[in-house]
Amino acid sequence: MDHFLYRDGHLMAEDVSLAEIAAAVGTPFYCYSTATLRRHFQLFDDALAGMDHLVCFAMKSLSNIAVLKVLGESGAGMDVVSGGEYARARAAGIPADRIVFSGVGKTREEMAMALDGGLRQFNVESEPELRALSQVAAGMGATAPITLRVNPDVDARTHEKIATGRKTDKFGVPIDRARDIYALAATLPGIEVVGIDVHIGSQLTSLDPFEQAYLKVADLTRELRADGHDIRRLDLGGGLGIPYTRGNDAPPLPSDYGALIRRTVGDLGCEIEIEPGRLISGNAGILVSKLLYVKEESDRRWLIVDAAMNDLIRPAMYGAHHDIVPLTEPESGVGQTEADIVGPVCESGDTFARSRPMPPLAEGDLIAFRSAGAYAAVMASEYNSRPLVPEVLVNGDQFAVIRARPTIDEMLSRDTIPAWL
Ligand code: LLP
Repeated sequence: MDHFLYRDGHLMAEDVSLAEIAAAVGTPFYCYSTATLRRHFQLFDDALAGMDHLVCFAMKSLSNIAVLKVLGESGAGMDVVSGGEYARARAAGIPADRIVFSGVGKTREEMAMALDGGLRQFNVESEPELRALSQVAAGMGATAPITLRVNPDVDARTHEKIATGRKTDKFGVPIDRARDIYALAATLPGIEVVGIDVHIGSQLTSLDPFEQAYLKVADLTRELRADGHDIRRLDLGGGLGIPYTRGNDAPPLPSDYGALIRRTVGDLGCEIEIEPGRLISGNAGILVSKLLYVKEESDRRWLIVDAAMNDLIRPAMYGAHHDIVPLTEPESGVGQTEADIVGPVCESGDTFARSRPMPPLAEGDLIAFRSAGAYAAVMASEYNSRPLVPEVLVNGDQFAVIRARPTIDEMLSRDTIPAWL
């Protein structure tokens, strides 16, 4: 459930009309709902109630500082994957002991930055990274709390580009090598083993792969404890999928996921961390765009809109589906016509939807791409020298621009011309 619904024929974000925001901000723009963000965080928090736990929002999915502040105030921690994300989390007021640092290629500078500012733990992904972290921490006279991300060799059965838990994927250490690397970790200066980390992929629509992975983690916990390690924390990653279409095949709910966690690892007495991104932010955001032209040639119909692949790359990159709806509710029973919905960028991949049945639309009409809170604004680029689109946050009947649209001059001002030119 989200808070983008029609009221009196107008698509609203909570209690604000999106057309009103469009008039104030211009199009295209991203819009997020505070109530939806809070609600989705709460679903996970409730799902783990009664267990010692922390829900760390995977902020790679949506990293605007205002959004992080909303979630932080609800009690969320953050899963960060770069120095930039660490800095954003701190700027949003997230306490250091609620920040976990993931990522397959942390630099020594990033390690030092997090050790200096403080954090809950590093999720270490390889033996060389472990050795580097030991050197950095020991050099600073610090101790780095770590989990080792294990690769359980489980097929998450999701899109090829976002599956991360098979042994051919670049992530983590093979689970059958874990005991050796934990033994090494125990001998390294500046390293304190606190637990195990696992993350097998994103947009999972079945609980089975989670179950397989978590059972392997439970076995490993017992083995490592028998080896003498104090395994007291399990980071179970993110990945629970969301419905991108309003159909019947909805993915499992956070409550089902919470029950699975209890069943698989609940008896180990470990503190539980999870790192959901998409389920918290995905349906908490939309992208609003304007229809520029309706082109009809060779028996095809193209709706050319002012948003493009540089603003929302998921359809071009993963063949992803986003529902597209008009801001003015179509009258019931009105006929639909198939159209290709495309942006202005100069390549055919700049196609949001092919042969999509759409209600009647005219030039100047506004539309919204739904489920555009996660991996949307954060993956935007300035390709074709199109300035990044602004972000707006709604809360009840108020809205605020939380990232302004840069002017063309601002965009150009980042380039510099060498003196010798
Ligand atoms: N933890 C780790 C270590 C991750 O790599 C990810 C996502 C998450 C947590 C959060 O997963 P989520 O709950 O959001 O599924 N750009 C792609 C998705 C990439 C996911 C990357 N890692 C997309 O648009 O579908």
